[in-house]
Amino acid sequence: VPKYVIPKMINLPDRQWPSKSLTVSPQWCSVDMRDGNQALPDPMDPDQKLEYFKMLCDIGFKHIEVGFPSASQDEFDFFRKLIEEDLIPDDVFIMGLTQSRPHLIARTLEAFKGCKRGIVHAYIAPSDLHMKQVFGMERPQLIETAVASTKQIRELADAMPESDVRYEFSPEEFTDTDVDFSLELCEAVFEAWGKGTPEKPVIMNLPATVERRPPNHYADMIEYFCRNFSKRDCITVSLHSHNDQGMAVAATELALMAGADRVEGTLFGHGERTGNVDLVTCVNNLFSRGIDTGIDFSDLAHVAQTVERLTGMPIYYRQPYSGSYAFTAFSGSHQDAINKGVHKLSEAPDRFGMGWKVPYLHIDPADLGRKFERLIRINSQSGKGGIAWVLEQDFGITIPKAMQPELSKYVQGYSESVGREISADEVYSVFQNEFVAP
Ligand code: KIV
Ligand code: ZN
Repeated sequence: VPKYVIPKMINLPDRQWPSKSLTVSPQWCSVDMRDGNQALPDPMDPDQKLEYFKMLCDIGFKHIEVGFPSASQDEFDFFRKLIEEDLIPDDVFIMGLTQSRPHLIARTLEAFKGCKRGIVHAYIAPSDLHMKQVFGMERPQLIETAVASTKQIRELADAMPESDVRYEFSPEEFTDTDVDFSLELCEAVFEAWGKGTPEKPVIMNLPATVERRPPNHYADMIEYFCRNFSKRDCITVSLHSHNDQGMAVAATELALMAGADRVEGTLFGHGERTGNVDLVTCVNNLFSRGIDTGIDFSDLAHVAQTVERLTGMPIYYRQPYSGSYAFTAFSGSHQDAINKGVHKLSEAPDRFGMGWKVPYLHIDPADLGRKFERLIRINSQSGKGGIAWVLEQDFGITIPKAMQPELSKYVQGYSESVGREISADEVYSVFQNEFVAP
C-alpha cells in the first residue's frame, strides 16, 4: 500500500493528440550503488552503502543493483553482508554485475550463495568499436563468449535451488551496435539460459551506454528489438540510458512508449560522466500525470539530503522536483500569479474539479513533502503580490491592496541597496520602518 497519494491531475487541456501517452508505470531498477557509486570521486564505504540500500528499499525499489562483487574484496564483502545478516526485504531482488569472463562469473556466483532472490547481470559490448578496439574479437567469437558465460551462470545458479536466481543480460553500447546483431546475440543468450518464461522472464537490458543518438533513434531501436525478438513474452525489455546529450529522461520516456517494460537509473542522475537517467525525474513525471509508480517520494527532501550526505555530491538547485529552487519564484508577476492561484484553489473544496492547477507550478509541491519551504522569495525583482504573501505567511499581516504598490517600492529599493535577496525579517523591518514606526 503506497504511503503517498497519487495526485488527480487533470491539468492538461482536453484535446486529443495522435501520439501515445504513458498510462502504466514500468518496473524500476536502481543502479545507484553500482553505476552511481563507481563514478563517485570518493565511493561509499560499507556503512554508507547500507544506509543507501535501506533508503532504496524504503522508497519502494524492488530491483537494486548492489555492486560488482568480483571487482574488489569490499564489493564482495558488502554483498555477503546483506545476505548473511538477512538485510534484504523478501520482495527485493539484489543484483550483481559481472563481465562475461569465467573467473569473474565464478566469483560473482559465490557472492550470491544463500540469497533469497537475486539477479545475476552479465554484460558484453557487441559494437564494432568495442570488438575491434577493446576485445580484438569478431562477431562469432563474441556470441560464443556470451553464450558460454550464460551457460556457466545457469549451471552455477542451478546449483542453488533454494535461491530464486534470475538472469539479466546487457549488450553494452546497444545504441552503437547494429541492431540485427544485438538481436542475434540476445536470441543466442536467451536460448543458452534456457528457462525464460513469462513468469520468470530474462531481462534484456538495452543500454545507451553513451548517449550517442537522439531520443527518437533510441526509441526506434527499442521498438525494432521488441517487434523482432522471437519470444517477446519471455523477456523483460529494460532501458539503461546515460545523459551525455542531456536527453536521457526524454529518451527513456520515448523508449517506454516504444515498448520497453523496465527502467534502470539512479537518483538525481548520479553515474558515469554526465550520469545515468535521473529516476527522480522519470518517476515524478509519471506521478504528475496520475500514474501509480510504486515509488514513494512524498519526502523527497529527506531522500535528497541523504543522497547528498552519502555521496558527497550536491544536487543542482534547478534540478527538476528536487532542486532547492524547483518551486521558487523571485519575479513579481510569477509571485502574484502563484499567490492568486493558490488562494483561489484553496477556496474551492474540489479544486474546481481540476486537481492541482496553479500558474507557474506544474505540481503541488506538497505532494513531494515540500509544504514548509518558501515558494516565494524576495529580491529587487519581486512584486507587490510576493511581498504581501511573505508578510501574510510569516507574520499574519494582511497588507491592503491600495498599500501594496508603495510597500513594494520600498522593499525593492532596500533589496537593490544591499544588492542581494532579502529575508522575510528584512521585509518585515522595511514594512515597520516605512509604515508603522513613523
Ligand atoms: O552503461 C552501461 O552500458 C552499463 C552496463 C554495464 C549495463 O552500465
Ligand atoms: Zn551504465
